[in-house]
Amino acid sequence: MDYKKHIASKLKVEGFTAEEIESFIALPPNSDLGDYALPCFRFAKTMRKSPVAIAEELKASFPVDEYIEDVNVAAGYLNFRVNRKGFVAGVLREVAEKREKYGASSEGEGKTVCIDYSSINIAKPFHIGHLSTTVLGAALYRLYNFLGYKAVGINHLGDYGTQFGKLIVAYRAWGDRAAVEAGGVRELMRLYVKYHDEAELHPEMDDEARAQFKKIEEGDGEATELFNFFKEITMKDVGRIYDKLNVTFDSYAGESFYNDKMDPIVNELREKGLLTTSEGAEIVDLSDYDMPPCIILRSDGASLYATRDLAAATYRKNTYNFHKNLYVVAYQQNLHFRQIFKVLELMGKDWAKDCVHVAYGMVSMEDGAMSTRKGKVVFLEDVITRCVEKSLEIITEKNPDLPDKEKIAEQVGTGAVIFGALSSNKIKDMVFSYDKVLNFDGETGPYVQYTCARCKSVLNKGGDIGEYAVPELSQQEYDLVAHIGKFPELLSSALEKLEPSFVTRYAVDLAQLYNKFYFDCKILGEEDNVKNFRLALTDATLVTLSNSLALLGISVPERM
Ligand code: ARG
Repeated sequence: MDYKKHIASKLKVEGFTAEEIESFIALPPNSDLGDYALPCFRFAKTMRKSPVAIAEELKASFPVDEYIEDVNVAAGYLNFRVNRKGFVAGVLREVAEKREKYGASSEGEGKTVCIDYSSINIAKPFHIGHLSTTVLGAALYRLYNFLGYKAVGINHLGDYGTQFGKLIVAYRAWGDRAAVEAGGVRELMRLYVKYHDEAELHPEMDDEARAQFKKIEEGDGEATELFNFFKEITMKDVGRIYDKLNVTFDSYAGESFYNDKMDPIVNELREKGLLTTSEGAEIVDLSDYDMPPCIILRSDGASLYATRDLAAATYRKNTYNFHKNLYVVAYQQNLHFRQIFKVLELMGKDWAKDCVHVAYGMVSMEDGAMSTRKGKVVFLEDVITRCVEKSLEIITEKNPDLPDKEKIAEQVGTGAVIFGALSSNKIKDMVFSYDKVLNFDGETGPYVQYTCARCKSVLNKGGDIGEYAVPELSQQEYDLVAHIGKFPELLSSALEKLEPSFVTRYAVDLAQLYNKFYFDCKILGEEDNVKNFRLALTDATLVTLSNSLALLGISVPERM
Protein backbone atom coordinates (compact mmCIF):
# COMPACT_ATOMS: atom_id res chain seq x y z
CA MET A 1 0.00 0.00 0.00
CA ASP A 2 1.42 3.34 -1.06
CA TYR A 3 -0.03 5.65 1.57
CA LYS A 4 1.51 8.83 0.22
CA LYS A 5 0.03 8.21 -3.19
CA HIS A 6 -3.32 7.38 -1.69
CA ILE A 7 -3.42 10.54 0.42
CA ALA A 8 -2.32 12.75 -2.44
CA SER A 9 -4.94 11.29 -4.77
CA LYS A 10 -7.68 12.31 -2.35
CA LEU A 11 -6.53 15.90 -1.90
CA LYS A 12 -7.49 18.52 -4.46
CA VAL A 13 -5.48 21.72 -4.38
CA GLU A 14 -5.72 24.16 -7.26
CA GLY A 15 -2.49 24.62 -9.13
CA PHE A 16 -0.88 21.42 -7.80
CA THR A 17 -0.81 17.95 -9.31
CA ALA A 18 -1.25 14.83 -7.22
CA GLU A 19 2.44 14.05 -7.85
CA GLU A 20 3.50 17.42 -6.47
CA ILE A 21 1.31 17.00 -3.41
CA GLU A 22 2.71 13.52 -2.91
CA SER A 23 6.24 14.89 -2.99
CA PHE A 24 5.42 17.33 -0.18
CA ILE A 25 4.19 14.59 2.16
CA ALA A 26 6.75 13.81 4.84
CA LEU A 27 7.11 11.76 7.99
CA PRO A 28 6.20 13.77 11.09
CA PRO A 29 9.05 14.25 13.55
CA ASN A 30 7.06 12.50 16.22
CA SER A 31 4.76 9.56 15.55
CA ASP A 32 2.26 10.80 18.18
CA LEU A 33 1.24 13.38 15.59
CA GLY A 34 0.51 10.82 12.92
CA ASP A 35 2.20 8.66 10.32
CA TYR A 36 2.32 11.19 7.47
CA ALA A 37 2.30 14.97 7.44
CA LEU A 38 1.53 17.52 4.75
CA PRO A 39 3.13 20.95 5.30
CA CYS A 40 0.40 23.38 4.20
CA PHE A 41 2.62 26.45 3.92
CA ARG A 42 3.45 25.03 0.49
CA PHE A 43 0.01 26.18 -0.67
CA ALA A 44 -0.12 29.51 1.22
CA LYS A 45 0.95 31.62 -1.73
CA THR A 46 -1.53 30.27 -4.26
CA MET A 47 -4.41 29.88 -1.83
CA ARG A 48 -3.75 33.22 -0.12
CA LYS A 49 -4.56 31.84 3.29
CA SER A 50 -2.63 30.94 6.40
CA PRO A 51 -1.26 27.38 6.54
CA VAL A 52 -3.54 26.64 9.50
CA ALA A 53 -6.63 27.77 7.59
CA ILE A 54 -5.57 25.69 4.60
CA ALA A 55 -4.99 22.64 6.80
CA GLU A 56 -8.47 23.05 8.30
CA GLU A 57 -10.02 23.40 4.87
CA LEU A 58 -8.27 20.30 3.49
CA LYS A 59 -9.16 18.33 6.58
CA ALA A 60 -12.84 19.08 6.02
CA SER A 61 -12.55 17.79 2.44
CA PHE A 62 -10.83 14.52 3.40
CA PRO A 63 -13.18 11.79 4.60
CA VAL A 64 -11.39 9.04 6.52
CA ASP A 65 -11.44 5.60 4.91
CA GLU A 66 -10.21 2.06 5.39
CA TYR A 67 -6.57 3.17 4.99
CA ILE A 68 -6.53 6.50 6.80
CA GLU A 69 -8.38 6.46 10.07
CA ASP A 70 -7.69 9.93 11.38
CA VAL A 71 -6.77 13.35 10.04
CA ASN A 72 -5.81 16.25 12.30
CA VAL A 73 -4.32 19.70 12.14
CA ALA A 74 -1.25 20.68 14.14
CA ALA A 75 0.23 24.11 13.49
CA GLY A 76 0.34 24.43 9.70
CA TYR A 77 0.47 20.70 9.14
CA LEU A 78 -2.20 18.24 8.14
CA ASN A 79 -1.38 14.95 9.84
CA PHE A 80 -2.68 11.57 8.77
CA ARG A 81 -2.87 8.44 10.84
CA VAL A 82 -3.02 5.22 8.92
CA ASN A 83 -5.34 2.45 9.91
CA ARG A 84 -2.77 0.44 11.77
CA LYS A 85 -4.55 -2.87 11.61
CA GLY A 86 -4.99 -2.56 7.88
CA PHE A 87 -1.37 -1.53 7.46
CA VAL A 88 -0.09 -4.40 9.59
CA ALA A 89 -2.24 -6.94 7.75
CA GLY A 90 -0.93 -5.63 4.42
CA VAL A 91 2.75 -5.84 5.39
CA LEU A 92 2.45 -9.32 6.86
CA ARG A 93 0.57 -10.54 3.80
CA GLU A 94 3.20 -9.16 1.48
CA VAL A 95 6.10 -10.75 3.39
CA ALA A 96 4.30 -14.09 3.67
CA GLU A 97 3.69 -14.11 -0.08
CA LYS A 98 7.07 -12.90 -1.31
CA ARG A 99 9.31 -14.61 1.26
CA GLU A 100 12.92 -14.70 -0.01
CA LYS A 101 11.87 -12.20 -2.67
CA TYR A 102 10.55 -9.74 -0.09
CA GLY A 103 12.30 -6.43 -0.73
CA ALA A 104 13.24 -7.35 -4.30
CA SER A 105 12.11 -5.11 -7.11
CA SER A 106 12.46 -4.54 -10.80
CA GLU A 107 13.66 -0.96 -10.57
CA GLY A 108 16.87 -1.86 -12.41
CA GLU A 109 15.29 -3.83 -15.20
CA GLY A 110 17.28 -3.70 -18.41
CA LYS A 111 20.27 -2.02 -16.77
CA THR A 112 23.69 -3.60 -16.44
CA VAL A 113 26.12 -2.55 -13.74
CA CYS A 114 29.78 -3.55 -13.78
CA ILE A 115 31.37 -3.86 -10.35
CA ASP A 116 35.12 -4.16 -10.02
CA TYR A 117 35.84 -5.51 -6.55
CA SER A 118 38.36 -7.49 -4.57
CA SER A 119 40.75 -7.30 -7.56
CA ILE A 120 43.60 -9.10 -5.85
CA ASN A 121 47.21 -9.27 -6.91
CA ILE A 122 48.76 -12.53 -8.03
CA ALA A 123 51.35 -13.99 -5.68
CA LYS A 124 50.58 -11.36 -3.07
CA PRO A 125 48.84 -12.04 0.22
CA PHE A 126 45.09 -11.63 0.50
CA HIS A 127 45.28 -9.49 3.59
CA ILE A 128 42.91 -7.67 5.88
CA GLY A 129 43.14 -4.64 3.59
CA HIS A 130 41.17 -6.59 0.95
CA LEU A 131 38.32 -7.33 3.31
CA SER A 132 36.32 -4.17 2.60
CA THR A 133 36.54 -4.23 -1.18
CA THR A 134 35.60 -7.89 -1.21
CA VAL A 135 32.56 -7.78 1.07
CA LEU A 136 31.43 -4.30 0.01
CA GLY A 137 31.62 -5.16 -3.67
CA ALA A 138 29.90 -8.50 -3.17
CA ALA A 139 27.10 -6.87 -1.17
CA LEU A 140 26.54 -4.27 -3.89
CA TYR A 141 26.58 -7.06 -6.45
CA ARG A 142 23.79 -8.91 -4.64
CA LEU A 143 21.83 -5.72 -3.99
CA TYR A 144 21.89 -4.74 -7.64
CA ASN A 145 20.69 -8.16 -8.70
CA PHE A 146 17.97 -8.13 -6.02
CA LEU A 147 16.67 -4.82 -7.34
CA GLY A 148 16.43 -6.11 -10.88
CA TYR A 149 19.71 -4.92 -12.37
CA LYS A 150 22.10 -7.24 -14.08
CA ALA A 151 25.31 -7.03 -12.09
CA VAL A 152 28.63 -8.12 -13.58
CA GLY A 153 31.20 -8.93 -10.90
CA ILE A 154 34.74 -8.34 -12.09
CA ASN A 155 37.94 -9.38 -10.34
CA HIS A 156 40.47 -7.14 -12.09
CA LEU A 157 43.44 -9.33 -11.21
CA GLY A 158 46.80 -7.68 -10.65
CA ASP A 159 48.61 -10.15 -12.90
CA TYR A 160 51.01 -7.95 -14.75
CA GLY A 161 54.36 -6.44 -13.83
CA THR A 162 58.08 -7.03 -13.48
CA GLN A 163 57.57 -8.66 -10.09
CA PHE A 164 56.56 -11.83 -11.90
CA GLY A 165 59.93 -11.92 -13.65
CA LYS A 166 61.56 -11.70 -10.22
CA LEU A 167 59.41 -14.48 -8.93
CA ILE A 168 60.47 -16.72 -11.79
CA VAL A 169 64.13 -16.06 -11.05
CA ALA A 170 63.56 -16.76 -7.35
CA TYR A 171 61.55 -19.89 -8.02
CA ARG A 172 64.21 -21.31 -10.29
CA ALA A 173 66.93 -20.59 -7.75
CA TRP A 174 65.30 -21.64 -4.50
CA GLY A 175 61.81 -22.89 -5.14
CA ASP A 176 60.25 -26.20 -5.86
CA ARG A 177 56.86 -27.23 -7.07
CA ALA A 178 55.81 -29.33 -4.13
CA ALA A 179 56.71 -26.61 -1.62
CA VAL A 180 54.73 -24.01 -3.55
CA GLU A 181 51.78 -26.35 -3.89
CA ALA A 182 51.83 -26.99 -0.17
CA GLY A 183 52.62 -23.46 1.01
CA GLY A 184 50.57 -21.49 -1.51
CA VAL A 185 50.93 -17.72 -1.58
CA ARG A 186 52.94 -17.77 1.64
CA GLU A 187 55.66 -19.78 -0.09
CA LEU A 188 55.59 -17.47 -3.12
CA MET A 189 55.99 -14.53 -0.76
CA ARG A 190 58.94 -16.21 0.92
CA LEU A 191 60.61 -16.58 -2.47
CA TYR A 192 59.85 -12.99 -3.36
CA VAL A 193 61.30 -11.66 -0.12
CA LYS A 194 64.39 -13.80 -0.58
CA TYR A 195 64.79 -12.43 -4.09
CA HIS A 196 64.87 -8.89 -2.74
CA ASP A 197 67.44 -9.74 -0.10
CA GLU A 198 69.67 -11.41 -2.65
CA ALA A 199 69.18 -8.82 -5.37
CA GLU A 200 70.59 -6.19 -3.05
CA LEU A 201 73.89 -8.05 -3.17
CA HIS A 202 73.55 -9.14 -6.81
CA PRO A 203 71.87 -6.35 -8.75
CA GLU A 204 72.46 -8.22 -12.01
CA MET A 205 69.56 -10.47 -10.97
CA ASP A 206 67.23 -7.65 -11.95
CA ASP A 207 68.35 -7.91 -15.56
CA GLU A 208 67.46 -11.57 -15.56
CA ALA A 209 64.10 -10.75 -13.94
CA ARG A 210 63.35 -8.20 -16.65
CA ALA A 211 64.27 -10.73 -19.29
CA GLN A 212 61.96 -13.28 -17.74
CA PHE A 213 59.11 -10.81 -17.54
CA LYS A 214 59.59 -10.03 -21.19
CA LYS A 215 59.28 -13.73 -21.92
CA ILE A 216 55.97 -13.84 -20.08
CA GLU A 217 54.76 -10.93 -22.14
CA GLU A 218 55.85 -12.61 -25.35
CA GLY A 219 54.12 -15.80 -24.30
CA ASP A 220 57.33 -17.79 -24.05
CA GLY A 221 56.39 -21.35 -23.15
CA GLU A 222 58.33 -21.98 -19.97
CA ALA A 223 58.05 -18.54 -18.40
CA THR A 224 54.36 -18.35 -19.19
CA GLU A 225 53.83 -21.81 -17.76
CA LEU A 226 55.45 -20.81 -14.50
CA PHE A 227 53.50 -17.61 -14.36
CA ASN A 228 50.27 -19.52 -14.91
CA PHE A 229 51.29 -21.87 -12.14
CA PHE A 230 51.72 -18.91 -9.75
CA LYS A 231 48.37 -17.62 -10.83
CA GLU A 232 46.72 -20.97 -10.26
CA ILE A 233 48.25 -21.24 -6.78
CA THR A 234 47.03 -17.77 -5.89
CA MET A 235 43.53 -18.41 -7.19
CA LYS A 236 43.33 -21.61 -5.20
CA ASP A 237 44.30 -19.75 -2.03
CA VAL A 238 41.87 -16.88 -2.54
CA GLY A 239 39.17 -19.24 -3.77
CA ARG A 240 39.02 -20.73 -0.29
CA ILE A 241 38.36 -17.30 1.15
CA TYR A 242 35.80 -16.39 -1.50
CA ASP A 243 33.94 -19.60 -0.71
CA LYS A 244 33.86 -18.78 2.97
CA LEU A 245 32.61 -15.27 2.30
CA ASN A 246 30.09 -16.43 -0.34
CA VAL A 247 31.71 -14.17 -2.90
CA THR A 248 31.56 -14.86 -6.64
CA PHE A 249 32.63 -13.16 -9.86
CA ASP A 250 31.52 -13.27 -13.45
CA SER A 251 34.87 -12.28 -14.87
CA TYR A 252 38.52 -12.59 -13.87
CA ALA A 253 39.79 -10.43 -16.69
CA GLY A 254 42.84 -8.93 -15.03
CA GLU A 255 45.49 -6.46 -16.04
CA SER A 256 47.25 -8.86 -18.42
CA PHE A 257 43.98 -9.43 -20.27
CA TYR A 258 44.43 -5.91 -21.65
CA ASN A 259 47.93 -6.51 -23.06
CA ASP A 260 46.60 -6.47 -26.61
CA LYS A 261 43.85 -3.92 -25.98
CA MET A 262 45.92 -0.86 -25.16
CA ASP A 263 47.31 0.04 -28.58
CA PRO A 264 43.96 1.27 -29.88
CA ILE A 265 43.57 3.43 -26.77
CA VAL A 266 47.03 4.91 -27.12
CA ASN A 267 46.37 5.58 -30.82
CA GLU A 268 43.07 7.21 -30.05
CA LEU A 269 44.69 9.44 -27.43
CA ARG A 270 47.33 10.41 -29.96
CA GLU A 271 44.82 11.09 -32.73
CA LYS A 272 42.77 13.25 -30.44
CA GLY A 273 45.87 15.26 -29.61
CA LEU A 274 45.76 14.38 -25.97
CA LEU A 275 49.26 12.91 -25.68
CA THR A 276 52.32 14.98 -24.91
CA THR A 277 55.86 13.85 -24.30
CA SER A 278 57.52 14.57 -21.02
CA GLU A 279 61.00 13.26 -20.20
CA GLY A 280 60.51 10.55 -22.79
CA ALA A 281 57.21 9.40 -21.35
CA GLU A 282 53.87 9.85 -23.09
CA ILE A 283 51.39 11.58 -20.83
CA VAL A 284 48.02 13.28 -20.77
CA ASP A 285 48.48 16.70 -19.22
CA LEU A 286 45.81 17.32 -16.60
CA SER A 287 47.14 20.55 -15.14
CA ASP A 288 43.97 22.36 -16.26
CA TYR A 289 42.12 20.13 -13.84
CA ASP A 290 44.54 20.51 -10.96
CA MET A 291 45.85 17.01 -11.30
CA PRO A 292 49.28 15.61 -12.05
CA PRO A 293 49.65 14.14 -15.55
CA CYS A 294 48.26 10.71 -16.31
CA ILE A 295 51.21 8.67 -17.56
CA ILE A 296 50.23 6.45 -20.49
CA LEU A 297 53.55 5.02 -21.66
CA ARG A 298 56.83 5.05 -19.78
CA SER A 299 59.97 6.20 -21.57
CA ASP A 300 60.83 2.54 -22.28
CA GLY A 301 57.45 2.17 -23.97
CA ALA A 302 55.91 0.09 -21.17
CA SER A 303 52.26 0.62 -20.31
CA LEU A 304 51.04 1.45 -16.82
CA TYR A 305 48.28 0.62 -14.40
CA ALA A 306 46.37 3.64 -15.74
CA THR A 307 46.78 2.56 -19.37
CA ARG A 308 45.26 -0.79 -18.48
CA ASP A 309 42.39 0.83 -16.67
CA LEU A 310 41.61 3.00 -19.69
CA ALA A 311 41.54 -0.12 -21.86
CA ALA A 312 39.49 -1.99 -19.24
CA ALA A 313 36.83 0.71 -18.94
CA THR A 314 36.49 0.86 -22.72
CA TYR A 315 36.32 -2.92 -22.95
CA ARG A 316 33.58 -3.00 -20.27
CA LYS A 317 31.54 -0.41 -22.10
CA ASN A 318 31.84 -2.31 -25.38
CA THR A 319 31.21 -5.71 -23.85
CA TYR A 320 28.49 -5.00 -21.29
CA ASN A 321 27.13 -1.63 -22.34
CA PHE A 322 26.95 -0.72 -18.68
CA HIS A 323 24.53 1.71 -17.11
CA LYS A 324 27.08 2.21 -14.31
CA ASN A 325 30.67 1.09 -13.99
CA LEU A 326 31.81 0.86 -10.37
CA TYR A 327 35.26 0.49 -8.84
CA VAL A 328 35.24 -0.60 -5.23
CA VAL A 329 38.77 0.47 -4.39
CA ALA A 330 40.37 2.12 -1.33
CA TYR A 331 40.43 5.92 -1.15
CA GLN A 332 44.23 5.81 -1.59
CA GLN A 333 43.44 5.50 -5.29
CA ASN A 334 41.19 8.57 -5.41
CA LEU A 335 43.59 10.45 -7.64
CA HIS A 336 44.08 7.49 -9.98
CA PHE A 337 40.37 7.21 -10.68
CA ARG A 338 39.85 10.95 -11.01
CA GLN A 339 42.59 10.91 -13.63
CA ILE A 340 41.17 7.91 -15.47
CA PHE A 341 37.65 9.33 -15.55
CA LYS A 342 38.92 12.71 -16.70
CA VAL A 343 41.00 11.19 -19.51
CA LEU A 344 37.98 9.18 -20.68
CA GLU A 345 35.93 12.38 -20.65
CA LEU A 346 38.60 14.22 -22.64
CA MET A 347 38.55 11.36 -25.15
CA GLY A 348 34.90 12.25 -25.65
CA LYS A 349 33.44 9.14 -24.03
CA ASP A 350 30.08 10.36 -22.80
CA TRP A 351 29.88 7.30 -20.55
CA ALA A 352 32.78 8.60 -18.45
CA LYS A 353 30.12 10.14 -16.23
CA ASP A 354 28.77 6.65 -15.47
CA CYS A 355 32.06 5.51 -13.97
CA VAL A 356 32.11 5.69 -10.20
CA HIS A 357 34.92 5.19 -7.76
CA VAL A 358 33.30 3.63 -4.68
CA ALA A 359 35.99 4.60 -2.20
CA TYR A 360 36.23 3.09 1.24
CA GLY A 361 38.36 3.57 4.33
CA MET A 362 41.25 1.56 5.69
CA VAL A 363 41.05 -1.43 7.97
CA SER A 364 43.66 -1.90 10.63
CA MET A 365 43.90 -4.38 13.46
CA GLU A 366 43.41 -3.49 17.09
CA ASP A 367 47.04 -4.23 17.83
CA GLY A 368 48.17 -1.89 15.07
CA ALA A 369 49.28 -4.64 12.69
CA MET A 370 48.74 -4.12 8.98
CA SER A 371 51.48 -2.29 7.17
CA THR A 372 52.79 -4.47 4.37
CA ARG A 373 55.88 -2.36 4.12
CA LYS A 374 57.01 -3.31 7.60
CA GLY A 375 56.42 -6.88 6.52
CA LYS A 376 53.70 -7.37 9.09
CA VAL A 377 50.91 -8.81 7.02
CA VAL A 378 47.59 -9.85 8.50
CA PHE A 379 46.14 -12.60 6.33
CA LEU A 380 42.40 -12.35 5.95
CA GLU A 381 42.13 -16.11 6.14
CA ASP A 382 43.80 -16.09 9.57
CA VAL A 383 41.37 -13.45 10.78
CA ILE A 384 38.40 -15.53 9.63
CA THR A 385 39.83 -18.70 11.16
CA ARG A 386 40.42 -16.94 14.44
CA CYS A 387 36.88 -15.57 14.46
CA VAL A 388 35.49 -19.04 13.82
CA GLU A 389 37.57 -20.47 16.68
CA LYS A 390 36.45 -17.76 19.03
CA SER A 391 32.83 -18.29 17.99
CA LEU A 392 33.16 -21.94 18.82
CA GLU A 393 34.47 -21.05 22.28
CA ILE A 394 31.60 -18.65 22.92
CA ILE A 395 28.95 -21.03 21.61
CA THR A 396 30.36 -23.94 23.63
CA GLU A 397 30.31 -21.84 26.74
CA LYS A 398 26.78 -20.54 26.21
CA ASN A 399 25.22 -23.70 24.88
CA PRO A 400 27.43 -26.75 25.43
CA ASP A 401 24.90 -29.27 24.08
CA LEU A 402 24.19 -27.51 20.80
CA PRO A 403 24.33 -30.01 17.94
CA ASP A 404 26.46 -29.18 14.88
CA LYS A 405 28.53 -26.65 16.80
CA GLU A 406 31.39 -26.56 14.28
CA LYS A 407 29.16 -25.68 11.39
CA ILE A 408 27.39 -23.00 13.37
CA ALA A 409 30.69 -21.55 14.55
CA GLU A 410 31.74 -21.36 10.91
CA GLN A 411 28.59 -19.43 10.02
CA VAL A 412 28.85 -17.14 13.04
CA GLY A 413 32.58 -16.48 12.75
CA THR A 414 32.53 -15.56 9.06
CA GLY A 415 29.26 -13.70 9.48
CA ALA A 416 30.87 -11.64 12.24
CA VAL A 417 33.77 -10.64 9.99
CA ILE A 418 31.50 -9.61 7.11
CA PHE A 419 28.97 -7.81 9.26
CA GLY A 420 31.76 -6.03 11.14
CA ALA A 421 33.34 -4.84 7.90
CA LEU A 422 30.00 -3.47 6.70
CA SER A 423 28.87 -1.90 9.95
CA SER A 424 29.95 1.65 9.46
CA ASN A 425 29.81 4.12 6.66
CA LYS A 426 32.19 2.76 4.03
CA ILE A 427 34.50 5.74 3.84
CA LYS A 428 35.35 5.58 7.55
CA ASP A 429 38.63 4.00 8.56
CA MET A 430 38.00 1.00 10.71
CA VAL A 431 39.82 -0.78 13.48
CA PHE A 432 39.05 -4.47 13.47
CA SER A 433 38.42 -5.91 16.91
CA TYR A 434 37.58 -9.57 17.54
CA ASP A 435 35.73 -8.76 20.74
CA LYS A 436 33.66 -6.12 19.06
CA VAL A 437 32.53 -8.11 16.01
CA LEU A 438 31.84 -11.18 18.17
CA ASN A 439 29.85 -9.44 20.88
CA PHE A 440 26.63 -11.47 20.89
CA ASP A 441 24.77 -8.61 22.60
CA GLY A 442 26.21 -5.83 20.46
CA GLU A 443 25.28 -4.41 17.09
CA THR A 444 26.84 -7.38 15.36
CA GLY A 445 26.32 -10.25 12.96
CA PRO A 446 26.08 -12.81 15.78
CA TYR A 447 23.39 -10.73 17.47
CA VAL A 448 21.29 -10.68 14.29
CA GLN A 449 21.93 -14.38 13.64
CA TYR A 450 20.99 -15.15 17.23
CA THR A 451 17.72 -13.30 16.77
CA CYS A 452 17.04 -15.38 13.63
CA ALA A 453 17.69 -18.56 15.60
CA ARG A 454 15.31 -17.30 18.27
CA CYS A 455 12.60 -16.73 15.63
CA LYS A 456 13.19 -20.22 14.25
CA SER A 457 12.84 -21.75 17.67
CA VAL A 458 9.59 -19.85 18.32
CA LEU A 459 8.22 -20.98 14.96
CA ASN A 460 9.26 -24.60 15.53
CA LYS A 461 7.51 -24.66 18.87
CA GLY A 462 4.48 -22.79 17.55
CA GLY A 463 3.70 -25.16 14.69
CA ASP A 464 1.62 -24.10 11.70
CA ILE A 465 0.48 -20.50 11.60
CA GLY A 466 -3.30 -20.61 11.46
CA GLU A 467 -5.73 -17.95 10.24
CA TYR A 468 -5.88 -14.74 12.24
CA ALA A 469 -7.40 -11.30 12.24
CA VAL A 470 -5.02 -8.54 13.33
CA PRO A 471 -5.82 -7.99 17.03
CA GLU A 472 -5.50 -4.77 19.05
CA LEU A 473 -1.87 -3.78 18.53
CA SER A 474 0.69 -2.97 21.17
CA GLN A 475 3.23 -0.28 20.38
CA GLN A 476 5.98 -2.94 20.20
CA GLU A 477 4.05 -4.88 17.58
CA TYR A 478 3.27 -1.85 15.51
CA ASP A 479 6.85 -0.58 15.61
CA LEU A 480 8.12 -3.98 14.55
CA VAL A 481 5.81 -4.21 11.54
CA ALA A 482 6.45 -0.60 10.58
CA HIS A 483 10.16 -1.40 10.41
CA ILE A 484 9.58 -4.56 8.38
CA GLY A 485 7.44 -2.52 6.00
CA LYS A 486 10.32 -0.12 5.33
CA PHE A 487 12.62 -2.86 3.98
CA PRO A 488 11.99 -2.35 0.24
CA GLU A 489 12.53 1.40 0.50
CA LEU A 490 15.63 0.89 2.65
CA LEU A 491 17.19 -1.30 -0.02
CA SER A 492 16.64 1.33 -2.69
CA SER A 493 18.31 3.98 -0.64
CA ALA A 494 21.18 1.65 0.33
CA LEU A 495 21.81 1.16 -3.38
CA GLU A 496 21.38 4.82 -4.23
CA LYS A 497 24.04 5.72 -1.65
CA LEU A 498 26.06 2.55 -2.38
CA GLU A 499 26.01 1.85 1.34
CA PRO A 500 25.57 -1.76 2.46
CA SER A 501 25.97 -0.33 5.97
CA PHE A 502 22.34 0.79 5.70
CA VAL A 503 21.44 -2.89 5.58
CA THR A 504 23.54 -3.86 8.62
CA ARG A 505 22.08 -0.91 10.54
CA TYR A 506 18.57 -1.89 9.48
CA ALA A 507 19.06 -5.53 10.52
CA VAL A 508 20.35 -4.56 13.96
CA ASP A 509 17.38 -2.25 14.48
CA LEU A 510 14.97 -4.95 13.36
CA ALA A 511 16.57 -7.53 15.65
CA GLN A 512 16.32 -5.10 18.56
CA LEU A 513 12.65 -4.40 17.84
CA TYR A 514 11.91 -8.10 17.65
CA ASN A 515 13.67 -8.81 20.92
CA LYS A 516 11.76 -6.03 22.62
CA PHE A 517 8.52 -7.53 21.32
CA TYR A 518 9.67 -11.00 22.37
CA PHE A 519 10.34 -9.97 25.94
CA ASP A 520 7.21 -7.85 26.32
CA CYS A 521 4.63 -10.01 24.56
CA LYS A 522 3.80 -13.62 25.20
CA ILE A 523 3.48 -15.69 22.04
CA LEU A 524 2.86 -19.38 22.58
CA GLY A 525 0.66 -19.21 25.65
CA GLU A 526 -1.85 -16.82 24.06
CA GLU A 527 -5.26 -17.68 22.65
CA ASP A 528 -5.19 -18.86 19.03
CA ASN A 529 -5.88 -15.61 17.22
CA VAL A 530 -3.20 -13.66 19.09
CA LYS A 531 -0.80 -16.60 18.96
CA ASN A 532 -1.20 -16.96 15.19
CA PHE A 533 -0.75 -13.24 14.68
CA ARG A 534 2.43 -13.20 16.76
CA LEU A 535 3.78 -16.24 14.98
CA ALA A 536 3.13 -14.48 11.67
CA LEU A 537 5.01 -11.49 13.04
CA THR A 538 7.89 -13.76 14.04
CA ASP A 539 7.88 -15.33 10.59
CA ALA A 540 7.93 -11.94 8.86
CA THR A 541 10.84 -10.87 11.08
CA LEU A 542 12.76 -14.02 10.21
CA VAL A 543 12.15 -13.59 6.49
CA THR A 544 13.27 -9.95 6.55
CA LEU A 545 16.34 -10.60 8.69
CA SER A 546 17.32 -13.58 6.53
CA ASN A 547 16.95 -11.52 3.36
CA SER A 548 19.09 -8.77 4.86
CA LEU A 549 21.80 -11.24 5.85
CA ALA A 550 21.65 -13.01 2.49
CA LEU A 551 22.33 -9.71 0.74
CA LEU A 552 25.44 -9.34 2.86
CA GLY A 553 26.58 -12.91 2.16
CA ILE A 554 25.86 -14.16 5.68
CA SER A 555 24.03 -17.40 6.38
CA VAL A 556 21.45 -18.06 9.05
CA PRO A 557 22.21 -20.84 11.53
CA GLU A 558 19.44 -23.34 12.31
CA ARG A 559 20.06 -22.94 16.03
CA MET A 560 22.45 -21.00 18.19
N1 ARG B 1 44.91 -4.72 -7.78
C1 ARG B 1 44.73 -3.35 -7.35
C2 ARG B 1 45.29 -3.15 -5.96
O1 ARG B 1 45.41 -4.10 -5.22
C3 ARG B 1 43.30 -2.92 -7.33
C4 ARG B 1 42.66 -2.89 -8.68
C5 ARG B 1 41.38 -2.12 -8.67
N2 ARG B 1 40.73 -2.11 -9.93
C6 ARG B 1 41.10 -1.39 -11.00
N3 ARG B 1 40.40 -1.51 -12.10
N4 ARG B 1 42.09 -0.53 -10.94
O2 ARG B 1 45.58 -2.03 -5.62
